[in-house]
Amino acid sequence: MLIYGITELSNLPPDTISELESDIAQCTKCDLSKTRNFTVPGDGHHNSNLMLIGEAPGSNEDKTGKPFAGRAGSLLDELLVGSGIERSEVYITNMLKCRPPSNRDPQLSEISVCERYLDLQISLVNPSVIVTLGRFSFAKFFPHLKLSQSRGTVRDWKGIKILPVYHPAAALYNPSLKPKLIQDFQKINTLLYKKSNTDLSDIQTKPNTQLNLFE
Ligand code: URA
Repeated sequence: MLIYGITELSNLPPDTISELESDIAQCTKCDLSKTRNFTVPGDGHHNSNLMLIGEAPGSNEDKTGKPFAGRAGSLLDELLVGSGIERSEVYITNMLKCRPPSNRDPQLSEISVCERYLDLQISLVNPSVIVTLGRFSFAKFFPHLKLSQSRGTVRDWKGIKILPVYHPAAALYNPSLKPKLIQDFQKINTLLYKKSNTDLSDIQTKPNTQLNLFE
């Protein structure tokens, strides 16, 4: 709601992703707002069936306002294309919408104040599949599980299929993780075309065609 962003007279949630992104641009709820250049709310298709959630903006993202704008983003693009998915068809965001100084890990207090924005994004985009990139976004959904033991395994969270994968940046530092990322990304196609978790006969894969990720 415009009135929410401008006057703060009301606590009504925004009606659209664009309104929410305007609210995020004005956020001063934590100290990261003092050191950021740009907020990095999210990017991509506002009604995609597929949402990707990373960790936090780095320096390239802070300069551009776009998530996954650096080397990890190039690898992410490669992984998506390898799975038959265009980045423009997906909604991509992060746990934090502002860059932590020196790219340090997000703090629990920052995650906690920023989480409301992520919850609103999930509710507005309404994806059927969420791919969590790295341990911080996986922990939002399954805080008691370890990513190394859970990657590639799909779990239900409030009716949404959650697919945890390693963070692309981890594969830049440790190339032995890249084949695991490629393997896990290959599952997205099947998930998007599976009508229910229990009826495997309903799987409709379209391996050699462009996916349609929108309703
Ligand atoms: N860029 C992002 O936007 N998020 C990450 O988690 C890493 C790089």
